[in-house]
Amino acid sequence: MTKRYLTPKGETFTAINDVTLRVEPGEFCAIVGPTGCGKSTTLAQVSGLERPSAGSVRVHDQIVDGITNGVSYMFQADALFPWKTVLGNVLIGPVLLGTPKKEATLLARDWLRRVGLAGFEDRYPHQLSGGMRKRVAMAAALINNPGSC
Ligand SMILES: Nc1ncnc2c1ncn2[C@@H]1O[C@H](COP(=O)(O)OP(=O)(O)O)[C@@H](O)[C@H]1O
Ligand SMILES: [Mg+2]
Repeated sequence: MTKRYLTPKGETFTAINDVTLRVEPGEFCAIVGPTGCGKSTTLAQVSGLERPSAGSVRVHDQIVDGITNGVSYMFQADALFPWKTVLGNVLIGPVLLGTPKKEATLLARDWLRRVGLAGFEDRYPHQLSGGMRKRVAMAAALINNPGSC
């Protein structure tokens, strides 16, 4: 897979050049490299947020051509909705995927308990520590049952 971006000057910038990577089901894989080497770019292609410029990405033998089912992507930056409570941030995934709100709320409360945030459901992201925001993001990612498809 190769990924090129267009820079603001209109030039082509190659972020990833001809990389082949295979991750087996159940494998724990860490991609380590210097800043700017293309780690986040790789994850953006796998999650389906972007498309490769050349080559292809497959998840469970299916070419990625939309948002990838069964994949959760926890962003490097806190990608929480600042206007939503902790609970609202965690239940949004299942609600958007069609789970009734009551059921999604129960699930979200359980995930918040699992990440050590029981009692913080009504807070807003700016009222949390950085580590707590990361744990909200983790609960919001895992509640969608990644790996189940
Ligand atoms: N949308 C974009 N437009 C232009 N260049 C980009 C874009 N996104 C990332 N890049 C460039 O691609 C390279 C890889 O970025 P990234 O994958 O975010 O690095 P990292 O390995 O630190 O996660 C960097 O040089 C970055 O500047
Ligand atoms: Mg990165």
